[in-house]
Amino acid sequence: MKKVKVSFSGLNDMLKFKNMGKRREEAINDCSNENFYKEANTNKISKELHPKFQHVVVEDIINEKWDCKTFVLKGDNCQLAPFKAGQFVNVYVEIDGVMVSRAYSISSSPKMALENEYRITVKAIREGLVSNYLLGTLDIGEKLLISGPSGNFTYNPLRDEQHIVGIAGGVGITPFYSLAQAIIDGDEDCLLTLFYGVNKEDDILFLEQFDDIVSKTNKVKVVYVVRDDEDTKYEYGLINKKLIDKYVVSNRVSFYICGPYKMYTHLNEELQKYNLPNKFFRYERVASKSIANGKKFTITVKKGNDYVKFKAYEYETIMTALYRAKIVIPSNCHSGTCGLCRTKLLSGEVIMDSDYRRKADVKYNYIHPCVTKPKSDLVIEIN
Ligand code: FES
Repeated sequence: MKKVKVSFSGLNDMLKFKNMGKRREEAINDCSNENFYKEANTNKISKELHPKFQHVVVEDIINEKWDCKTFVLKGDNCQLAPFKAGQFVNVYVEIDGVMVSRAYSISSSPKMALENEYRITVKAIREGLVSNYLLGTLDIGEKLLISGPSGNFTYNPLRDEQHIVGIAGGVGITPFYSLAQAIIDGDEDCLLTLFYGVNKEDDILFLEQFDDIVSKTNKVKVVYVVRDDEDTKYEYGLINKKLIDKYVVSNRVSFYICGPYKMYTHLNEELQKYNLPNKFFRYERVASKSIANGKKFTITVKKGNDYVKFKAYEYETIMTALYRAKIVIPSNCHSGTCGLCRTKLLSGEVIMDSDYRRKADVKYNYIHPCVTKPKSDLVIEIN
């Protein structure tokens, strides 16, 4: 057998290897008990930027108009997440033992989030379970649970033209107020020509604030349009193409529309005249279709083998009726766009304020209860 020569350094290596186990054990014992891996920094930052929930305290309540208040919300021992003008938060409140929620556009400047403040402006509506609770019950100093900001009603230079034509109705002015502040703060680089439709002159929200913004920048213009009174200094009637063309000469614009349902039906026809691709129109709905009387229907909810029945008014969404029946389903946008509340309709007729369902959902009879109202007795299935 051939002898193998082992050099001094090789011998040294072999001795080291022989003691490897012992040395390894010593090294492990010397380690701190603290977990080396806690959480990746990127995950931590992502959670801070996009929190699921945030705790806030009501710092102030501003009476805007007889049926409308702005709630000033401050982070309750936490830093509020940043947002883009046009985004909303869901506000969660417990009503009769059930946690219910409703989405509200943030009306304040994105800059204020750095000072730990959001503002939401809430208007009373007959079928507004959460809105009426906030307006009637919420007081300064009370605490609330809200979601992180979300929504796509935001200026995106990759998608939009730089000139935004905003069309607002009623409390649908809130995302535009936020955008106008973002423009003047230098946070958004776009032009805004805003058409603000109201029933009466006295209904105009944030009039002084907009006057102030318009006096400071030529990037924001506001055209007030009063529907029911010819004798004001503002435009009169309904917002239509003729009126828009009077103030907007370029056709390189993106349209942003936020208001009540009835405004949409009229505007859809007018805006089609521009013949623009769909990507140049963005919609956000703030109040549902108003139905005059209060007919009641029976809704039967199937969950597994269990059935629950309750009554629902024809003017309220199925989501609101579910809340009243203490049945909570997932939700986020409350405007029919996120699809989180998708529910199977087994039988009955419904009416929708807006319809952003996928084709497959239409085919297989899925509905979005947040924007859908009963037109007859219904049977729905939830998981
Ligand atoms: S909550 Fe988003 S579609 Fe209903």
